[in-house]
Amino acid sequence: MQGKQLYDVAAEFAGLTGNENVYDLYTGTGSIALYLARQCRAVVGIEEIPEAIVDAEENMRLNGITNATFYAGDVKSVLSPEFVQKHGRPDVLITDPPRAGMHSKAVEFLLDLAAPRIVYVSCNPATQARDLQLLSEKYAVLKVRPVDMFPHTHHIENVALLELKVSS
Ligand SMILES: C[S@@+](CC[C@H](N)C(=O)[O-])C[C@H]1O[C@@H](n2cnc3c(N)ncnc32)[C@H](O)[C@@H]1O
Repeated sequence: MQGKQLYDVAAEFAGLTGNENVYDLYTGTGSIALYLARQCRAVVGIEEIPEAIVDAEENMRLNGITNATFYAGDVKSVLSPEFVQKHGRPDVLITDPPRAGMHSKAVEFLLDLAAPRIVYVSCNPATQARDLQLLSEKYAVLKVRPVDMFPHTHHIENVALLELKVSS
């Protein structure tokens, strides 16, 4: 199943050891967050559709997961210094935005947040490339791996691993 292939690439790039604090932006029904929950210390997901968050919480309960937290709201508004103070700075940040990519305000917040590792999952390589260009101010792209989720179409899912550059 290609969904599992995609999440396995995200998990491999996340490189979790069990101790990490993870953010999952644009979490939908929390599927990536819950897929990773048992491999990290804590995971927090953000999604703008409240009904999806209700499903994420139900999925969490059905799977007996207790270290995930979900928020309904726009990523660019929910992500704030207060949010980071409450949940801690992420060791790994997963972002899986819609085809439009990330809002520039959200990208700017990620640059200030400076999580050591970002896994950027995208269904639109054009907007992903635009966002990676913006993030290149502080991040190096270490790996890129496409996953063919939509056979016989020109659409592709693309996963990129970004690492915070060491400042000199
Ligand atoms: C590509 S889907 C990813 C869903 C999920 N990660 C998965 O694997 O199923 C993008 C998600 O972002 C949500 N979304 C779109 N714009 C958003 C925003 N500004 N803030 C928060 N969530 C948003 C959509 O509702 C959708 O669930």
